[in-house]
Amino acid sequence: MRTDLAEPGQAAPAGPILAVETSCDDTSSAVVHGREVLSSVVSSQDELHAQFGGVVPEVASRRHTELVNEVIAEAMSRAGVTWDDLAAVAVTQGPGLIGALLVGLATAKSVACRRRLPLIPVNHLQGHIAANYALGIEAPFICLVASGGHTLLAVVEEGVRYRVAAKTLDDAAGEAFDKGARLLGLGYPGGKELDRLAARGDPGFARFPRSMPRGRGFSFSGLKTALLYDLRDRDEAEVEAHRADIAASYQAAIVRQLVEKTVAGAQHEGLRSVAVAGGVAANSGLRAALTQACEAEGLRLSLPPLSLCTDNAGMIGLAAGFLPALPWPDYLDLDAFASDAEAKAARPPRTRRPERAPRPRRPRGA
Ligand code: KG4
Ligand code: ZN
Repeated sequence: MRTDLAEPGQAAPAGPILAVETSCDDTSSAVVHGREVLSSVVSSQDELHAQFGGVVPEVASRRHTELVNEVIAEAMSRAGVTWDDLAAVAVTQGPGLIGALLVGLATAKSVACRRRLPLIPVNHLQGHIAANYALGIEAPFICLVASGGHTLLAVVEEGVRYRVAAKTLDDAAGEAFDKGARLLGLGYPGGKELDRLAARGDPGFARFPRSMPRGRGFSFSGLKTALLYDLRDRDEAEVEAHRADIAASYQAAIVRQLVEKTVAGAQHEGLRSVAVAGGVAANSGLRAALTQACEAEGLRLSLPPLSLCTDNAGMIGLAAGFLPALPWPDYLDLDAFASDAEAKAARPPRTRRPERAPRPRRPRGA
């Protein structure tokens, strides 16, 4: 699969870019200049969704509507830029929750339109990958993209253009973390909670299957079932006493697969530079294991800071620097997309005629 999802348009303009990201439950805005993130503000909705045990799409959209203007104002103020300094506006176009995306897209359009600025639509996954550019990485490199909805190995050929070398055959790694956390009775958001608990557990306590599918793809659904059986086969007191050990063993099994497949992928592709992206890249076990494995194999590793791993607009601004910009008013009817399949089926934005001064009306009867 190739991912040249950007529509035809002009090259990204030089100067600060205001970025907006609302693909799921984080309302975020950033100001990015080239590869420098001048500011990145994330307003998390975790507490709001915790009461439901997961993201409720409609609740997320409504909250984005309430927060987005304030978050943009904060990003502008922290970056110390004015509206006149902006060269373009970038926004996540998809994939993600459609209602949530539409809030960001409509907001970005209005900000851009008001100033006749170009708009840069960004694919969320290309954003995650681009987070690594803040660390000075240069393509080509292989990137493990592991989030709540995706797990894949991307061979990044240039900028944010990539080819999928392997992907999950079932669940995403983030999903495995979230479902595991739920089975272990942990709070929401699951991945982070499981990571925290696993830090004080023994990863050798429970044995989980290697769950290593043949070929280069990933698989996590068997692991999740194994955890379910493991917990069912222990009595309550044992689970209570060893919750951290079970969490650590489960996390280690996920991490082992991610690390082995990533290193094997780099070797198969003949690439010496490895990067990670997506919320799961914030996992402390994964960061430690990948650091060790890359050192042992003599691979260069790019580990973005946690703030650039989980959803944030900084990464969207970084990706925008590699993507074409749509001039005003070509983006006015631009739509969001929930999945990559939907993006491919979508028609490209209509090119409108440049703005013309209205013709003077002839007086009636003349
Ligand atoms: O990239 P992201 O913020 O949003 C999506 O695009 O999906 O990724 C969210 C996923 C969730 O499944 C979350 O549980 C997981 O990343 N995650 C973690 C950690 N922090 C976030 N998983 C394991 N350990 C963490 N520290
Ligand atoms: Zn994400």
